[in-house]
Formats: sequence, structure tokens, C-alpha cells
Amino acid sequence: MSGIFGALRLPASVVFGSGQRKGIGMMTAQIGRRALVCTDARMGQDAEFKAIVADIAANGVEVKVYDRTEADLPMAGITACVEEYAGYKPDVVLGIGGGSCMDMAKCVAVLLQHGGSLRDYYGENKIPGPVAPVIAVPTTSGTGSEVTPVAVIADTERGTKVGISSPYLIPRVAVCDPELTLTCPPGLTAVSGADALTHAIESFTAARRDVTPDLTVKNVFVGKNALSDVFGLLALKNIFEALPTAVKDGTNIAAREKMMLASLAAGCAFGTAGTAAAHAIQYPVGNETHTPHGMGVALLMPYVMEFNRPACVSAFAEIARAIGLSGNDGAGTDEELSHRLIDAVAALLKEIKIPVTLKELGLPEDKQDWTAEAAIGAARLVNNNPRKLDVDAMKAITRAAFTGDRAALAS
Ligand SMILES: NC(=O)c1ccc[n+]([C@@H]2O[C@H](COP(=O)([O-])OP(=O)(O)OC[C@H]3O[C@@H](n4cnc5c(N)ncnc54)[C@H](O)[C@@H]3O)[C@@H](O)[C@H]2O)c1
Ligand SMILES: [Fe+2]
Repeated sequence: MSGIFGALRLPASVVFGSGQRKGIGMMTAQIGRRALVCTDARMGQDAEFKAIVADIAANGVEVKVYDRTEADLPMAGITACVEEYAGYKPDVVLGIGGGSCMDMAKCVAVLLQHGGSLRDYYGENKIPGPVAPVIAVPTTSGTGSEVTPVAVIADTERGTKVGISSPYLIPRVAVCDPELTLTCPPGLTAVSGADALTHAIESFTAARRDVTPDLTVKNVFVGKNALSDVFGLLALKNIFEALPTAVKDGTNIAAREKMMLASLAAGCAFGTAGTAAAHAIQYPVGNETHTPHGMGVALLMPYVMEFNRPACVSAFAEIARAIGLSGNDGAGTDEELSHRLIDAVAALLKEIKIPVTLKELGLPEDKQDWTAEAAIGAARLVNNNPRKLDVDAMKAITRAAFTGDRAALAS
């Protein structure tokens, strides 16, 4: 393969900085006249949130608030919101909160525009056209949903989480104000930051595709490329600098800023390049153990990296150099640095108290192979993995992750 290929799909505006939430009223007024704000019960009572809503109204926009978004986004809650507000006909939808609230706003915008059931839109590129503009305002540093073409919902009847991916889901505006994350408790900071770490690594090491003119037309996620790589490295540099501090001292605004910049950058990277094996395996693990998405994907990351290492030596070494693992003299062969990076990722996750094995996460012992079989079904994520995965390879990963035997995957 030769030549540079790059692709990015992003909101029309991405605004980042402490205090930028104070511009949300003006930004909303530039887009619409009737706003619906989706948030959750905690945020609905928050003084900062109330100030944002008042500011929207002060800018001459009619505004209504739906504050019953549930974590992990069960489908029934989305339908309830749409039924309640369809008559109001909002022309701009805001999602203010963690990934769940932002994904709520995205789904509501789809259903208000196109009707039907969310099930009509599962998978890739199923949304038939543009939707009402969304303004996404994250209050965790993790999902990157403020810039991604993805919404993840829980189909409770089918007992599984499902993804909807389409460029039409990308918010019109992302407003990232790190001060909104100052209230995140250590556990949430760790788990959401670990999700961002996984997005950055999986997108930076995603499989490269054959570059054809229809690659970005037919696919939402297009694999590793020159533009998403810039964001992946930006994310990783900031995560290694700031995540432990943000977890230990939530009042440290410099660490909060770096983590929000990192989760935004990781969203820019994976929203175009896509994620891979760790995300594929987390879906069944999450369904079985009811543990947070970020905890599961991060726990799996060192095992997936160990398996992928032969296909990723130079990419791992590039990350290692970017985060300073090569020392002042730049020492270390790519091979050495690729090992050092996996150790550094495992050490970082340990420092922020992410569990180390699937056993600790509560996966039943007899579900190791079942997890691998379910994960291999996530074709989009499996095909995006840098090293070819079959069911035996998946089983090797889930077994190693169950017992904590990373060395079993070494090559
Ligand atoms: N769309 C995407 O691109 C994408 C990517 C990754 C994950 N996700 C999805 O996002 C969801 C997870 O999002 P999340 O990790 O941001 O958490 P979340 O939105 O599920 O919120 C988790 C909890 O944290 C609380 N919280 C949020 N912000 C807070 C703050 N500033 N202070 C105190 N508490 C706060 C919430 O009230 C809630 O109780 C999952 O459903 C996941 O599947 C989506
Ligand atoms: Fe994720």
C-alpha cells in the first residue's frame, strides 16, 4: 500500500475550554427557537445545569428539559421522551451529561425526524437522512460521544446493548467545558478515562483498509488513517499525563482539562477509525456482569494488546515514544518499546484501580468460551482488529483475561 490516506467526520463546531458552557445559550440561539434538553436526574438538580438552561431562555429560545435519562440508556426511556415532546417540535436538541445523556439526545433527534423504532436503525448507515441539530455537552471525560457518529442503547427486551452508527448522528456542536467534570467521583473518573484510553489505542492500531473512493461512503468506520492518528496520539499523551491525578485529586483543574481534551480527541479518532477487539469482547461481558463499559474495555486492553502486538510493533512504539517511554535519549528498539507500552498501560490501569481479570469482574468461569463466541459475532469490530481474529484466538484472549495470564498470549 502506498500514499497517505486520511478521513475525519466531526461536528461543525467543537469548542473546548473552562467556562465555555457560558456560550451555550448564544450557540443554541444561532441554531433554533425551541430547544429540548436531555439530561439525567442528578444533573437536572445541578446548579450549573440550571444556569445553562436559564441562559438558553435568556437568549430568546424556548426551552424544555427532560431529566429522566437513565444510565446505559434503556430503550423505553428514549421512547418515553420522544412521546412526551413530539408535539413540542423542538428544532434543536441538547444532550448535557455523560455518554448516556448525549446518546439520548442523538436518539431523540433521530426519532423526532424519522419516526419508527430505534430497532430500525441498529447497525451502520441505517438512518435515512439528516436529523434535528444536536448540541452535545459532556460532563464526564470518557465516551467522546460529543463528536462521534455513534449512540449506544440498551435493548432491554433482547438483553443486550446495541450500537447505532451513522454520520447523521454526529452532533452539530460539541461544547467541552472541563469544569463540568469537577464533580465526577474517583470511580467514575477512572472508568470513563479508561474508556477514552481504549478508544485512543484501538483507533490508533485499527486495521488499515484498502483505500477505494467509496470507502468513506459505504462505511462509517474506515480504519487507521493519517488524520485520526493525530487525535489518537493527542489523547494518549494527555491520558498518561493526567488520568491518575484526575482520579486522585478531582479538584485539579489542569488534570481535568487534559482528560477532557483527551476524551474529545479519542472520540475524534475512534469516530472515524473505529474500535476493535476490546470493544467486541466487552459487549457480552457487560451484558453478563452489568459492569461499566469503560471498566470492561480497559481491563481487556492489555490482553488484546499482547495478542495484537506482532501486528502493531511500530504503532505501539510510536505511542510509547509519544508518551515518553523511550527515555531522554530516545533509546529502545520498536520491539522493546512495544513491550514497554503494554506494561505501561497495565500499570496505569492498576494505578486507577481497574480490575485485572474477567474473574474479578464477575464473569462466571463457564462463560469464558461463550464470551469469545459472542464477541466474534461483532463483525465490524472484529474486522477492524489489526491482527486477524478467529474464534480460537478470541478464546485464547478471554481465557487469558479470565485468569490474568497475559504471558499466555505473548509472541
Ligand atoms: N456514543 C458514543 O460514542 C459512546 C462511546 C462510548 C460509550 N458510550 C456509552 O456512554 C455511556 C457511558 O457514559 P458515561 O461513562 O459518560 O456515563 P453515564 O452517562 O452513563 O453516567 C454515569 C453516571 O455518572 C453520573 N455523572 C455524569 N456526569 C457527572 C458529573 N460531572 N459529576 C457526577 N456524576 C456524574 C451520571 O449522573 C450517572 O449516574 C454508556 O451507555 C456507553 O455505552 C457511548
Ligand atoms: Fe468505548
